[in-house]
Amino acid sequence: AIQPRVFSGVQPTGNLHLGNYLGAVSRWVPLQDQMETIFCVVDLHAITAGFPAPGELKAATREVTAAYIAAGIDPKKSIIFNQSQVREHAELAWLFNCVARMGWLSRMTQFKEKAGKNKENASVGLFAYPNLMAADILAYRATHVPVGDDQKQHLELTRDIAQKFNNDFANQIKELGIGVPNPTPSPELPEQIYFPVTEPMIAGPATRIMSLRDGTKKMSKSDPSDLSRINLKDDADAISKKIKKAKTDPEALPSEVDGLKDRPEADNLVGIYAALSGKTKQEVLGEFGGQQFSAFKPALSDLAVEKLAPMTGEMRRLTDDPTEIDAILKIGAEKASAIAEPVLKDVRKIIGF
Ligand code: ADP
Ligand code: NA
Repeated sequence: AIQPRVFSGVQPTGNLHLGNYLGAVSRWVPLQDQMETIFCVVDLHAITAGFPAPGELKAATREVTAAYIAAGIDPKKSIIFNQSQVREHAELAWLFNCVARMGWLSRMTQFKEKAGKNKENASVGLFAYPNLMAADILAYRATHVPVGDDQKQHLELTRDIAQKFNNDFANQIKELGIGVPNPTPSPELPEQIYFPVTEPMIAGPATRIMSLRDGTKKMSKSDPSDLSRINLKDDADAISKKIKKAKTDPEALPSEVDGLKDRPEADNLVGIYAALSGKTKQEVLGEFGGQQFSAFKPALSDLAVEKLAPMTGEMRRLTDDPTEIDAILKIGAEKASAIAEPVLKDVRKIIGF
């Protein structure tokens, strides 16, 4: 059987923010004790929107690695590495370029958002990005992928790729005897499959943290306004300034979650408070319902500073002298290769190379 295995990653594109932390990294921590866990710094993805200046990619890779460790990802419990050091990602992505259909990729909303108006000038890599993401996951035959809500569509594509591969090569997989029984029998899948049909893990109060300046846009590294996000490197002053300036409406906080409907900014700030404190939104409203933002915002600032300051300090310590991080990444790449190499060997056999 395919063993339960978690894979996830963050791009090293600078400005790691509260959305990345609450929507992804913080949720990985408890999984380390439940399953085999692999966490990647996806540097091959970071060049899809343009090549960073020399040195920037390495610095950003170290910074994301530092954030993982500072957030509680333990190199003794998890494999931590960067994508470019394990060649199987790129190789499998090429094979998946030939599995995925143009029509599937054309429907990806993130490409439309990131390419903007000038699609003709977007890199082919930006268009094919979801195939690389599928390769990241399936090179480890990972069964579970904890990510934010923005990655839902890409994960569906990963499932489609796994399914098409399992179907198209059903005979070879069976003949070579390298399949596993399909754990969730369905008429769409053969009895013996090679790639698991990965389960997304998208749940909790923080799957989509919104911009502090616009409650309809997600908090993102690429937002030109620094006031739109809380960066993990922000100090206490920056955090409280940004929360103070966060866009809100003039109403008091409601006492029931229903009252957050059609109030995206209020919903977002309450969601952030909930995620940081480990409470539900309803519990937060139980405490703050009826109060004005002028009372709620300072409480939120204090909580954010309390939670983030120790992490920021640890990140600084780790990036000041990168020896430790570089050693962790090197060992991680060796461990990751040990899993991905045999998978690619199988895949080459299945395809017939
Ligand atoms: P970004 O979207 O900021 O460029 P990445 O693409 O590297 O970041 O995403 C890394 C992880 O962080 C993914 O799991 C993604 O779903 C999650 N994530 C990114 N932005 C948010 C957000 N605003 N809210 C919740 N999760 C997010
Ligand atoms: Na993203």
